[in-house]
Amino acid sequence: MIQVNDKQITVLAAPLQGVTDNVWRMAQHEVFGAVDAYYAPFMRVEHGEVRRKDLRDVDPERNEGTTLIPQILACQPNHALMMVDALKQRGYHRIDINLGCPFPPIALHRKGSGMLAYPDLTEALFQALATVEDVSYSVKMRIGWDRNDQWRDILPLMDIIRPVSITVHPRTGKQQYKGELDIEQFEAMLAAASWPVVYNGSLYTVEDIHQTVDRYPALEAVMVGSGLAADPGMLAPDTAADDYRRFHDLLVDGYTEVLNGGEAQLVRHLQDIWQTFLPDTDHKLQKAIRKSHTIDQYQNAAAAALASVENMAFYQRKHQ
Ligand SMILES: Cc1cc2nc3c(=O)[nH]c(=O)nc-3n(C[C@H](O)[C@H](O)[C@H](O)COP(=O)(O)O)c2cc1C
Repeated sequence: MIQVNDKQITVLAAPLQGVTDNVWRMAQHEVFGAVDAYYAPFMRVEHGEVRRKDLRDVDPERNEGTTLIPQILACQPNHALMMVDALKQRGYHRIDINLGCPFPPIALHRKGSGMLAYPDLTEALFQALATVEDVSYSVKMRIGWDRNDQWRDILPLMDIIRPVSITVHPRTGKQQYKGELDIEQFEAMLAAASWPVVYNGSLYTVEDIHQTVDRYPALEAVMVGSGLAADPGMLAPDTAADDYRRFHDLLVDGYTEVLNGGEAQLVRHLQDIWQTFLPDTDHKLQKAIRKSHTIDQYQNAAAAALASVENMAFYQRKHQ
C-alpha cells in the first residue's frame, strides 16, 4: 500500500513473462517487498495440457509468504477451464484473465490482446469461466487490438464474470510497448466502467504513482511492471546499495537451483536479467556482463555493476 493524500493505494506487481517468475518474485519480496500482490506471468495450455513450467511457477510451496494471482491466457473455453481447474486444485480462488498480450504469435491466434477484436469469442470465454464455482476473476487488458476503442465492445461483457478489477494498459495490442499511452481512451474507459479499474503503464517512481492517483481519484490500485523490474526497490523508500547485491545474489542462487541446462544456460539467463534490471548501469559494465562466458566471469562483471549502484542516476534521485 502507498499512502496518497488520505487514501491507501494498492500496488500490484505486473506479470512480465521471462522476468517476474517465482525466483524474481521471492527475491523482490524478501529484500524489498512493498508489493500488495504479484501477478504471475500468463500460463497456457500446450499440446493438450497446462504447461508444467507454468504450474511449477505458481506452486504454493514456492510462493509462500506472497499474495500471488495466477494469470491464464486462452481463447478456447476448454483450455481456460483446464487451467482454472488446475489452479483451484492448488488452492487458488482468484485468477486473472489475460486480454492484453500483444506478442504477434499469440495475438494473431486471437489470444491476449488479439481477443479484443472478437467480442463473440470473449463472450464465450467469459460465459464458460462464469460457470466455475468458488473463483473470482480479474482481467488485464489493453484498450483494443488494432483500434483504440475496441474496449467499448468488451466492457459490457464484464458483467458476465463480475471482475474484482480490470487492469488497463492504455495502448492497443498493435502498438506493443511503443508509442504514446492513450490517456484519452483510458479516461473514457475509467468513466464507463462499473467495475474497479487498475491503471498500468510507465510508472517508474513513487512520485509517478502519486501523480496518477491525483489525476484519477477513482483509482484504488495501480500496477507497476518495467519500473519495478528496473528498480525492484522502486516502492521501498530506504533502499541501500547492498540490498541490490542481496537481491542479485538471491537471483543467482534461485536460477542455479531451478535451471538445469548447465553453466551456459545459467549465464545466458543471468545476462538476460540485465535487459531490464538497473538500466542506468554504465555501458562498459553492461558490455562486460554481456560478454561473459563462464559463471565466474559473469559474477565479476555483475559485482562491478552492482558496486556502482550508488552512482546510478535512479539511486541518486531517490537519495537526494
Ligand atoms: C517482457 C514482458 C513480458 C510481459 N509478460 C506479460 C504477461 O505474462 N502477462 C501480462 O498480462 N502482461 C505481460 N506484460 C505486460 C506488463 O505486465 C505491463 O502491462 C506492461 O509492461 C506495461 O506496464 P509498465 O509500463 O509498468 O511496464 C509483459 C511485458 C513485457 C515487457
